[in-house]
Amino acid sequence: MDPDLQKKITEALRDPKNLGEMPDADAIGTVGNSDCGEMLRMWVKFKEQNGRKVIDRATFQSFGCETAIAVASLATELIRGKTVEEALALKTEALAGELGPLPPMKIHCAQLVEGALRSALDPANATGATSAAGAKTVSTAVKGSNLVDSLNPQSKPAGVKIVFLDPKKPQS
Ligand code: FES
Repeated sequence: MDPDLQKKITEALRDPKNLGEMPDADAIGTVGNSDCGEMLRMWVKFKEQNGRKVIDRATFQSFGCETAIAVASLATELIRGKTVEEALALKTEALAGELGPLPPMKIHCAQLVEGALRSALDPANATGATSAAGAKTVSTAVKGSNLVDSLNPQSKPAGVKIVFLDPKKPQS
């Protein structure tokens, strides 16, 4: 990896922002990459600002890859104060922010963050959201669960939705 990029990632990892679960989140998105086994969950909280619904804060948990953690740290800062539409308009490069262009083998790490954000901003994944069939799409148990809980078959609550990204397909 480019030493300059490695240095920026190391700096971002020294003090990652917005790490951890958010028990009172309004929405949760979880994505996985079956090729490298990385998973990332993002929690989002909204607020009203000047008559607009904007992202108040976002947090994340991730397994493994340093690049995904660094991008998630930057992205959760970047989306603060943005509307859902503005946040969805941010592509992988924008979310990676000051890390700059990522090498081809690391682009999917940023796509994992983009995927988690898109999943969290999907109205179907709002905590307490009601599906067309009238079922709660995210249970209270999921709302309070962390990423480790979801992988533990003993504590896996019903209704966890993990989206596995297709690394060959660009995120829309
Ligand atoms: Fe797969 Fe980073 S190596 S997400």
